[in-house]
Amino acid sequence: MQQVVHDPDHMRALVHEARAAGQRVGFVPTMGALHAGHASLVARASRECDVVVVSIFVNPTQFGPQEDFTRYPRTLAADTALLAAHGVRWIYAPEASSVYPPGDATRIVVGGPAVRFEGEQRPGHFDGVATVVCKLFLAVPADVAYFGAKDWQQSLVVKRMVRDLGLPIGIVVCPTMREPDGLAMSSRNAYLSVADRPRAVALSESLHRAAELWSAGADTATIERTMRETLSSHGVVIDYAALADPESLDPLPKNATRAIALVAGRLGSTRLIDNMELPTRGSPERGAET
Ligand code: PAF
Repeated sequence: MQQVVHDPDHMRALVHEARAAGQRVGFVPTMGALHAGHASLVARASRECDVVVVSIFVNPTQFGPQEDFTRYPRTLAADTALLAAHGVRWIYAPEASSVYPPGDATRIVVGGPAVRFEGEQRPGHFDGVATVVCKLFLAVPADVAYFGAKDWQQSLVVKRMVRDLGLPIGIVVCPTMREPDGLAMSSRNAYLSVADRPRAVALSESLHRAAELWSAGADTATIERTMRETLSSHGVVIDYAALADPESLDPLPKNATRAIALVAGRLGSTRLIDNMELPTRGSPERGAET
């Protein structure tokens, strides 16, 4: 039987009890507006754990002042039904006042993989993510937590925080789920206008172009230019389109063998992000990168 839990102390006690009884507990943190991408995380957690907890909390501290916190889709009834169908035991849906009590004055400040890309575009975003994820891990002291590769940079930030703070939880990153035309599933896709929806395929197309060129030995500048051209040709206003080291997100060294391609841009008022890990290549880049 599924249970919605609002109180962090109650939630923690339930997880402790389950683990004391020898059950492996899996945790999927979300902001709700659940879709097939979230369902795939829950399915993986269900396969690998005895009990699954899903949190639903639209976290104010990871939204900038001009961002979509107030209009972020809130679909609790549909979310609860989807999670019931997936056999989720507990939904943790805390009140904002229990996550951020009156007078709250403490934040986790993240660097390293948080600095570039989304970190530049959305100042403070990853401090808000790290702070809430840490608080969620305290309320849901699970064995393992599941995150989507769609938010690759977020998953690196969480892994780094877990390592740096010595948090006793495993992190599993699951593949991005895509619509039939390649658009990465996201709660924000619901904002796309009818006219913009077909244009959104530009993000995944630009990543596929990057993968082709990378495999053919092209240099970083050529690949990034092609990604930008693909995005612009569909009317996407580009925030970034770049290759980086997949673990640190630092700029690629010359002769890199591993890379991730990352894109972010806007269609109308909808901001979309996507990424793709590129196939490891053995030979040095052909282009001069001096
Ligand atoms: O990826 C998300 O939905 C959110 O950033 C998370 C991890 C639930 C923190 O609010």
